[in-house]
Amino acid sequence: MSGLFITLEGPEGAGKSTNREYLAARLKEHGIEVVLSREPGGTPLAERIRELLLTPSDEVMNSDTELLLVFAARAQHLAEVIRPALRRGAVVLCDRFTDATYAYQGGGRGLSEARIAELERFVQGGLRPDLTLVFDLPVEVGLARAAARGRLDRFEQEGQGFFEAVRQAYLQRATQAPERYRVLDAAQSLERVQRDIDAVLPLILERCRG
Ligand code: TMP
Repeated sequence: MSGLFITLEGPEGAGKSTNREYLAARLKEHGIEVVLSREPGGTPLAERIRELLLTPSDEVMNSDTELLLVFAARAQHLAEVIRPALRRGAVVLCDRFTDATYAYQGGGRGLSEARIAELERFVQGGLRPDLTLVFDLPVEVGLARAAARGRLDRFEQEGQGFFEAVRQAYLQRATQAPERYRVLDAAQSLERVQRDIDAVLPLILERCRG
């Protein structure tokens, strides 16, 4: 594989989508093919699985079911979008990927890291993101931003404790593998966050050329 796989992570309301557009525009200025996608989702089938995951329901979803749905969507997304794009040499900018599984199903739901790692190997083989930008934000700020956007999805309806665990899981993963992660302070103004993204740009361009 010759492309570059970059993922954007963080809680709800951290500005991932806006900043993904910004980074995509910067890369396109350099003539780089950029593929934007998101998880869960990214293909028609995976988007249908996303609906199952995000739509609130009276039936409580079992945590293992949730985990398997997340990876089912991922398998489809990898086969249809991510691997073909990387083979073409594109930069894939994906809003969430398996770090979200470690954060939400691991940290939030309390599923074991070993169980998640097992599925990660099964579905992804050796494929891991080349770079992960974590947009870090105090939980209450993220929840307030999400609430201001309107109706809450199944995850957004979780409480403060769930999101504290999600945040800690992200930060812990970033600490364990600092070469792969960049933690950005998403509580700053958008302008400052984008200045921080600009600071990562040379590294991305260097890897694209390398
Ligand atoms: P969002 O992308 O619009 O923020 O919504 C996706 C939701 O799905 C978000 O609450 C996090 C959750 N999610 C997981 O729980 N596990 C995963 O592996 C992924 C990719 C997302």
